[in-house]
Amino acid sequence: MANTQQIALVTGGARGIGEAICRVLAKAGHRIIVTDISVQGAQDLAKQLDGHAYEMDVTNAESVNNAAEKINQEVGVPTILVNNAGWDNLMPFLETDEAFQDKVIAINYTGPVRVCRAFLPGMIEAGGGRIVNIASDAGRIGSALEAIYSGTKGGLIAFSKTLAREFARNQITVNTVCPGITNTPLIQEITANNELAGRGIASIEKNVPLKRMGQPEDIANAVAYLASEGAAYVTGQTLSVSGGISMAG
Ligand SMILES: NC(=O)c1ccc[n+]([C@@H]2O[C@H](COP(=O)([O-])OP(=O)(O)OC[C@H]3O[C@@H](n4cnc5c(N)ncnc54)[C@H](O)[C@@H]3O)[C@@H](O)[C@H]2O)c1
Repeated sequence: MANTQQIALVTGGARGIGEAICRVLAKAGHRIIVTDISVQGAQDLAKQLDGHAYEMDVTNAESVNNAAEKINQEVGVPTILVNNAGWDNLMPFLETDEAFQDKVIAINYTGPVRVCRAFLPGMIEAGGGRIVNIASDAGRIGSALEAIYSGTKGGLIAFSKTLAREFARNQITVNTVCPGITNTPLIQEITANNELAGRGIASIEKNVPLKRMGQPEDIANAVAYLASEGAAYVTGQTLSVSGGISMAG
């Protein structure tokens, strides 16, 4: 991490929080690799940021490993890695079935594990790096209608702390950012298609101490700090960016 300009890879970077992270990291001077299942979205953003776009489905080992090989050869080794891709729909636990549960676990937990496994060796060889995983306040304090998702995000927090311990000797920091309800296409889709979820989200929003919904840039600014040179001595931490709705210890 000696140079200030790094190669920064963001999963699910084409829209929402991931897009804001790409924009903020580009502004900080990093070379951006936008990865997503939406190739068109990734390419459009990469073009605007003078960066690179790769198709990478975090639920598919072949897709992740092929993308990692190409990225390492064609662009270089990412020393900033942001695991942002994630998904959920809100429903009572007893209405979830195996297919839904598997999908939520694959995107939100197995995905980041797989991506870390693919990119950590390069980072070790490069002499250090920053990993920032996007979890959720649901993984810290629970969230009604999000049982499986909450479990995956809690798992991601514990996974991140363990990586932080294992790879501290390699000068790789691993931290987690937990957004609260944030205004993104995902939240817009959930509230448009699911009345129960819409009511739940509206009631959370009303209780935010800072009296507004999060914006993608709020989350991206926290990621940019944890990815920066200045955060060299911060690892294994979990940072909520949620307008004060959770003040977890
Ligand atoms: N929006 C919120 O209120 C909120 C709250 C807490 C946590 N989060 C977390 O923030 C992250 C981003 O959420 P968002 O609201 O911006 O979502 P979003 O759906 O608006 O954007 C997610 C991006 O990830 C991509 N993606 C989906 N599945 C993928 C896969 N299998 N492989 C690669 N890319 C994939 C999508 O194409 C999309 O571009 C997620 O991890 C989410 O769990 C969001």
